[in-house]
Amino acid sequence: MKVDFVQKRFSAVKADALVLVLTKEDVGAGNKSAGRSRLISSFPGDTSQLERALAGSGFTGDKDKHITVYSLAKFGVAFLVGAGDESDLSNERLRRAAGVGIREAQLVKATSVVVATLDSVLDETSHYEVVHSLLEGAILGAYKFDKYFTLNGKNPKIASITAAFAPVEASIGKKAAKDAELIGEAVYLTRDLCNAPANEVYPEALADVAVKMARKFHVHARILDEKQIRKLKMGGLLAVNSGSARPPRFITLEYKGDPRSRDWYAIVGKGITFDSGGISLKPSTGMGEMKMDMSGAAAVIGTIQALASLKIPVNVVGIAPSTENLPGGRAYKPGDVVTTMSGITIEVDNTDAEGRIILSDALHYAKRYRPKAIIDLATLTGACVVALGHHATGMFGTSEDTMAQLKDAGEKTFERVWQMPIYEEYEKQIKSDIADVKNVGGRWGGAITAALFLKKFVGDYPWVHLDIAGTAMLEEETDYSQKGSSGVGVRLLTQFFKHIASQR
Ligand code: BES
Ligand code: MG
Ligand code: ZN
Repeated sequence: MKVDFVQKRFSAVKADALVLVLTKEDVGAGNKSAGRSRLISSFPGDTSQLERALAGSGFTGDKDKHITVYSLAKFGVAFLVGAGDESDLSNERLRRAAGVGIREAQLVKATSVVVATLDSVLDETSHYEVVHSLLEGAILGAYKFDKYFTLNGKNPKIASITAAFAPVEASIGKKAAKDAELIGEAVYLTRDLCNAPANEVYPEALADVAVKMARKFHVHARILDEKQIRKLKMGGLLAVNSGSARPPRFITLEYKGDPRSRDWYAIVGKGITFDSGGISLKPSTGMGEMKMDMSGAAAVIGTIQALASLKIPVNVVGIAPSTENLPGGRAYKPGDVVTTMSGITIEVDNTDAEGRIILSDALHYAKRYRPKAIIDLATLTGACVVALGHHATGMFGTSEDTMAQLKDAGEKTFERVWQMPIYEEYEKQIKSDIADVKNVGGRWGGAITAALFLKKFVGDYPWVHLDIAGTAMLEEETDYSQKGSSGVGVRLLTQFFKHIASQR
């Protein structure tokens, strides 16, 4: 997909489709309003079609409402998408409206699309942000995972998305377009990895994708195989892996964007390529979704790509332990005691609480970098989905600063996070009678006891845990995400690191 900016009025550009995002003020209440005449006069030539559509549809520019006008200016079809009141305009409103519009364009099989707003929007918000948000929403909204459809031919894909604004300086517009394209590509990579079935994305395959990405973006990848994992005594990862016929992998990706600094940040992602629950087998209904139990690892790989392609000046190591969690003759069992790389022992009470077990080794390993902060992402608990649903990531941690910065980044990207407590009173739920810690904490506060479990392995390093179980996997589509993987984490962390880099 080609993403571009042109310093031209949108009406001067030729494409299959136009997505024009309009505020209520742009649409205007009556036919004689200033807004409406501005809208109509933004198109040259015959506007009778447009005037009739506006008058007949009752379209007011309400958010996410849209109308369709055929053969307008140089476009086969134009989608006018509402963004609501001008005073409520935000980056997220622009992203959503562009997402709605691009999907309409896709439905009519348009392959080239122009996205724009009227100039009024530019008065309110920075030009960079308007162009970036529109393109980001359009790119993310255009995502489809259709590689396995072979019958009936494929629908054409959108080949080009162009933002057109005459008043925006070319250098600003081009930069916004490039940035949106790069972040879009990184989110696509993450979504593709998550949506792919587990017979395609298993630990070795996940590691191969990480290595390929690293080569392309000059990141240093190191993949530990089973022998090396054994040598490091990663007993947690090995225990979870023991029921699987496929070997585990331990992925590290070092992105050194600020060579003059010795500061490192570590991002750690859960990479369970399929979670059957193991001996504590899950019910079969919906088990297929657990191909996405590597969403944390995929977000780490996507984030490293985003940081490297955008050349953000920070040093970040991405760490992703990866295995399947399957039952079998050699599988680990409830009652087993596992010694992790840190030396801390775990009593396994339920083999379905496997994410925290593999993360125990990864979090311990992360300390090698003496990181300024460790941030982990994991589809860790159903309890987090019960608590927060699909619209907020659960956030837990010991670093108030990092959490505040993640909260900001979450608001900016709309990958919102919500802090949950890790009071020490919850700890007794994961006390074991025979080992240092037990891997489940009973029925109540399941997302919290999981976080407290992880905390034991980070020592005194500033740490934040993001439980993305609800936000990574969507049961329903949203304005700019299909159902399935959302790719959550990539935009959040990239924004977070942009902020860190800007502070120095
Ligand atoms: N991968 C699951 C968590 C999950 C559930 C993610 C639903 C996304 C949607 C995790 O490994 C798991 O199975 N957790 C158990 C823990 C329990 C046994 C303490 C859970 O949440 O039920
Ligand atoms: Mg599980
Ligand atoms: Zn899991």
